[in-house]
Amino acid sequence: MSYKIQDSDITILRKAGVSEYDIKHCVKVAEKALEIAKRTGANLDMELVGRGALFHDLGKAKTHGMEHGKIGAEIGRKIGLPEAVTDLMEKHIRGGLTEEEAKELKLPIKDYALKTLEEKIVIYADRLVDIITDGIVEIKNEIEAEQRFEDILNEYPKYGKNRKTLNRYLGYHNEIQVLMRK
Ligand SMILES: [Fe+2]
Repeated sequence: MSYKIQDSDITILRKAGVSEYDIKHCVKVAEKALEIAKRTGANLDMELVGRGALFHDLGKAKTHGMEHGKIGAEIGRKIGLPEAVTDLMEKHIRGGLTEEEAKELKLPIKDYALKTLEEKIVIYADRLVDIITDGIVEIKNEIEAEQRFEDILNEYPKYGKNRKTLNRYLGYHNEIQVLMRK
């Protein structure tokens, strides 16, 4: 199954008040997530990958703070996005917080752990796209962001954040890279 990013979904982001800069990021994450999903060769819900990635930052229409995941999911529910998509939006902050971390960050206390491969691919694509587009790390091409992923996260706190977050991202990276190498 393949999936194409829908213009009508981009219109939803725009109407909600997401900036053109953030929309560009969302589209790039969706493209990257769909590319990675295809490369894994796994039987995945490509619509969830595409729409989950496209809408993950919908909450940035209201805030760029930590609570943009929660707020995005609330907006998503109001406009009738599927639960799997709003779940992903809520959980994407720092790649899936534990209850303890959520408490520290003053977010609703619950387990935000990512469960499905679709969710992990979106979160991995989000991190890769930041590395690719920010211009902070010098890379020749997009593949280099994957090849140097571990070093980049260790070296740049912007991408690794802290040990827990870094280890989560490395876990997704390793799991997904193994599938893509098969
Ligand atoms: Fe985000």
